[in-house]
Amino acid sequence: MKTKILQALRQDSEVYISGQQLCEQFGVSRTAVWKAIKQLQEAGYEIEAVRNRGYRLLAVPDILSQSEIASQLHTKWLGQNIRYFEEVDSTNTAAKRIAEESGCADWHGTVVVAEEQTAGKGRRGRFWSSPRGTGLFFSILLKPQIEPGNASMLTLVKGMATVKGIAQVTGLRPQIKWPNDVVLNGKKLVGILTEMSAQVDYVNHIVVGTGINVHQADFPQEIAKTATSLKLELQEAGRNVQISRAELLAAALFYFEQYYETYLQTQDLSALQEEYNSMLANIGRGVRVLDPLGEYEGTALGIDNKGQLLVDRGKEVSEVSSGEVSVRGIYGYV
Ligand code: BTN
Repeated sequence: MKTKILQALRQDSEVYISGQQLCEQFGVSRTAVWKAIKQLQEAGYEIEAVRNRGYRLLAVPDILSQSEIASQLHTKWLGQNIRYFEEVDSTNTAAKRIAEESGCADWHGTVVVAEEQTAGKGRRGRFWSSPRGTGLFFSILLKPQIEPGNASMLTLVKGMATVKGIAQVTGLRPQIKWPNDVVLNGKKLVGILTEMSAQVDYVNHIVVGTGINVHQADFPQEIAKTATSLKLELQEAGRNVQISRAELLAAALFYFEQYYETYLQTQDLSALQEEYNSMLANIGRGVRVLDPLGEYEGTALGIDNKGQLLVDRGKEVSEVSSGEVSVRGIYGYV
């Protein structure tokens, strides 16, 4: 009921919607409407109630409740089941637990989101700093019918969706640092960690986890030089925008659903490659490839349809796969 009322109030914040109208629209009593409004106000929503006119939504807090997210979601199947935690070890681990608890994959498309992670995971066993209320920490749980070898491309698909979601909500224009960081002005804004449980030829489940730096005003010393947040970037651009993490999540899910469906048709990035390359920060820039078999430098040309980074080394073009190889900018982080 709270979700439906929020959706109705959101449609036009200029006009009042009467209690009677809400009762009729949702087939519930006036008391039920009043109770839902009271709960929303207690959660921090500023809802004006005027006798003989009705209700009007004045301000929305930046909270990540189920109803706040659901009332903004425009997806067909993704995130129709949202699991929200005030605090969790890691949304990736929580998503994995959900998949392992139930054999029939009715959890496909579930989204796990948390206000705070106590054991947020980064790539290569690193820790992902996730204090309460600072960022957007969420994981998408999937059971795609794909070959396990094609799963790493989902990280690139997620990167694209995140860039589009951020651009839509904030007007900023972030880019992708291959394969899976989203960056702005040379600093990291988003990290993506994709984890899979699979047999040789069969995917049990895939978890695509995303951490977006939203409200941070500063960062732990070890990442202070390379990390940024939406708040810092908006300040830098001289813009005073209140960011709603729920809106950001809804936008990122909307684009992920679309890109994912395109990817599934071919199980590769042939239809997305061009757009990915248009978002790529590395393109045309010098990169150092940290290959365990030997480091080398070259110029990044873009990705191929398998998501490999093509690096021009003068005499040859190398295809770099994500995984054990990492890529650094020669003149900085990107
Ligand atoms: C990286 O850049 O190292 C990847 C960071 C991924 C962080 C996100 S936050 C939500 C999800 N849950 C986790 O424990 N990790 C991912």
